[in-house]
Amino acid sequence: MIDLNGMTPFAEGDNRLCFIHPDNPRHCLKVMKPHLADQQYTDAPWYKKLRGRKALNDNEREISAYHQRAIVHGGDQIWHHLPRWHGVTPTTLGDASETDFISDDQGNPAPTLEKLLKQQGTDPVVTASLQQLEAWLRETQVLSRNLLPHNIVAKTIGPRYQLYLIDGLGPPTVASILGWSEAWRKHYIERRIQRMWLRANWEAGGREGQWSDIERADR
Ligand SMILES: Nc1ncnc2c1ncn2[C@@H]1O[C@H](COP(=O)(O)OP(=O)(O)O)[C@@H](O)[C@H]1O
Ligand SMILES: [Mg+2]
Repeated sequence: MIDLNGMTPFAEGDNRLCFIHPDNPRHCLKVMKPHLADQQYTDAPWYKKLRGRKALNDNEREISAYHQRAIVHGGDQIWHHLPRWHGVTPTTLGDASETDFISDDQGNPAPTLEKLLKQQGTDPVVTASLQQLEAWLRETQVLSRNLLPHNIVAKTIGPRYQLYLIDGLGPPTVASILGWSEAWRKHYIERRIQRMWLRANWEAGGREGQWSDIERADR
């Protein structure tokens, strides 16, 4: 069991705390924030409750997300934009999802795309990195939920950025209940790509207007 007591997370999202693995600085351990799993279940809509309490936990969802067909049968290119997943690791703060830690050359956490968009907008370098991610999504057919800039981190490689999807992997609940056809899968990925650009441009432009209104207008 990994002891995380007294350790400071290097980052956190709405649901999870992220730690550098104490025995392996190249790995990241993500644990659910205390009591959040129960709260999420209480607040969830009926169709999400259908899949049970476990499926709502972000780490449980990540397990099935990493077992999706495109990843299991994909080649090495899968890992060009995804941190490798190393399974579930027990810690003193509960089960952790263990993945590669995406860092810069000094071992600091790679910045989020959200931060880059705020600092430099969709300049040619950021745009090229998004175009590369877009091509990878089409090629690999990896399924994700909406591609949000705070769930993507950017590793600097020479003059460019390599983007990694560190959260939001896997299809949405309703889609995995109803199943997939090839045509639907392709259509679904195109929609995610379209939304990714819409969101990136909205953030780069200083978040003018409500995101929910912009999303609605795009339906
Ligand atoms: N593998 C990773 N490498 C580097 N930074 C990460 C990694 N995973 C998460 N992070 C950082 O931690 C933050 C929160 O992680 P995330 O998985 O999105 O948590 P949550 O499930 O709570 O949304 C991210 O926005 C990112 O800055
Ligand atoms: Mg997140």
